[in-house]
Amino acid sequence: MAKESKAEASNTGKMFATGLGILMATLGSAVGLGNIWKFPTLTGTNGGAAFIFIYIACALVIGLPVMAAEQMLGRSSRGDAVTAFRRLAPGKLWWLIGAGGVLAAFMIMAFYTEVAGWVLAYVFKSMGQGLMTTDPAVTSAAFGALITDPVRSLGFQWIDLLITGAIILMGVTKGIEAATKRLLPLLFVLLLLVSVRSLTLAGAAEGLAFLFTPDFSAVTVNTVLEAMGLAFFKLSIGMGCMITYGAYYRNDQNIPATASKVVLSDLAISLLAGIAIFPAVFAFGFEPAAGPSLLFITIPAVFSSMPLGNVFMVIFFALTFIASIGAQISLLEVITAFLENTFKLNRKQGTAITLVSLALVGSLAALSNSVLAEVTLFGLTFFDLFDFASSNILLPVGGFFITLFAGWFWGKSKYFAQISNEGSLKNEKAGKFLFTITRFVSPVLVLIVLLRGLKII
Ligand code: TRP
Repeated sequence: MAKESKAEASNTGKMFATGLGILMATLGSAVGLGNIWKFPTLTGTNGGAAFIFIYIACALVIGLPVMAAEQMLGRSSRGDAVTAFRRLAPGKLWWLIGAGGVLAAFMIMAFYTEVAGWVLAYVFKSMGQGLMTTDPAVTSAAFGALITDPVRSLGFQWIDLLITGAIILMGVTKGIEAATKRLLPLLFVLLLLVSVRSLTLAGAAEGLAFLFTPDFSAVTVNTVLEAMGLAFFKLSIGMGCMITYGAYYRNDQNIPATASKVVLSDLAISLLAGIAIFPAVFAFGFEPAAGPSLLFITIPAVFSSMPLGNVFMVIFFALTFIASIGAQISLLEVITAFLENTFKLNRKQGTAITLVSLALVGSLAALSNSVLAEVTLFGLTFFDLFDFASSNILLPVGGFFITLFAGWFWGKSKYFAQISNEGSLKNEKAGKFLFTITRFVSPVLVLIVLLRGLKII
């Protein structure tokens, strides 16, 4: 007990200072490559609007309750992903959820830093003339040259790690909160600019129709698994990221309101990214179903087709990199906070170990298009394996157990005490609604989609 209160005391210096800061940091975690790279890619390859509808259903019925539950678990325990469960369920095995979460953070960061590295490379590349071509064969060759070059792949990944690591080093208030408060509004304005440009192109309507007219005939179980995996990934849930941030929440923060705002704003930003991309893709006759290369092969060709394309291309990649920062620092914080609390390290030591270990694990993903291209597990390269296993397996499994913990183990009275800030908020109806979903609906849905998607049932 004495040990716990000491750990708690060392945590009290680490809090988000304002309600707005909490919202920005949390939204900054949610908004990232998930919105600007994964969402358009998956929407493009899964038939457009029908996929978006299924995604929205997952975000509301699974995403919102899991996010709120994580934030409450974090705030009530004031612990990182592992420590939270150790404090809330001492002597029990629930902390394994958090351990799985730390593992997931490593896997996600391994490929995430690589993609962010490509984006950073593209910010510079798009300032020159090298990408200014409407021929996808040329942009494809340029992208291929980048990802098969081990030196540039590792180099940009490590630069990205240093940038995001510097923010983590500065701490919760001066690092995470201060950075996201400045970056998020900038990201929004830039994205708006590109969307307006895309929408005002002749032929934009076809892209909008693709985004907003559903065709459910192409939907399969696999589509649903992808949509659910995307919801977990995009909302930063299922691995304790929201527990880690929740630990820094003020006691008077209205958690269900915050979680709802984050889910809705994150959706709005994804749609805005879709509006920035698809009308332009259609206007110039490119293929919407290009897959992961959409961002790096199709997009440059699309921008090269439009007036002032060079400028908009720089803006586009800059905003994508900015979006990736808020997400990456939340993933880094999961690892750093865990290390600090578990091994009693200071911020510097925690950050350093996080960065070094990520540079090592990350290089498996960074080299999976060059030196390690032939090394596969289950037929996937490290890059694809980390991506698939984290979103479609680890996060849903984590989410399943988090809802079980919050809905059944933790139980009604503690859940309601947290959701109403010990009775000072009148959240009764919202609370009842969320608790019922957390208990009966989310875990069942997650389990069915997971087992069906993995062809286990
Ligand atoms: N949500 C972020 C994105 O869309 C990625 C991310 C940040 C994340 N923290 C996470 C994904 C925790 C899963 C779990 O880019």
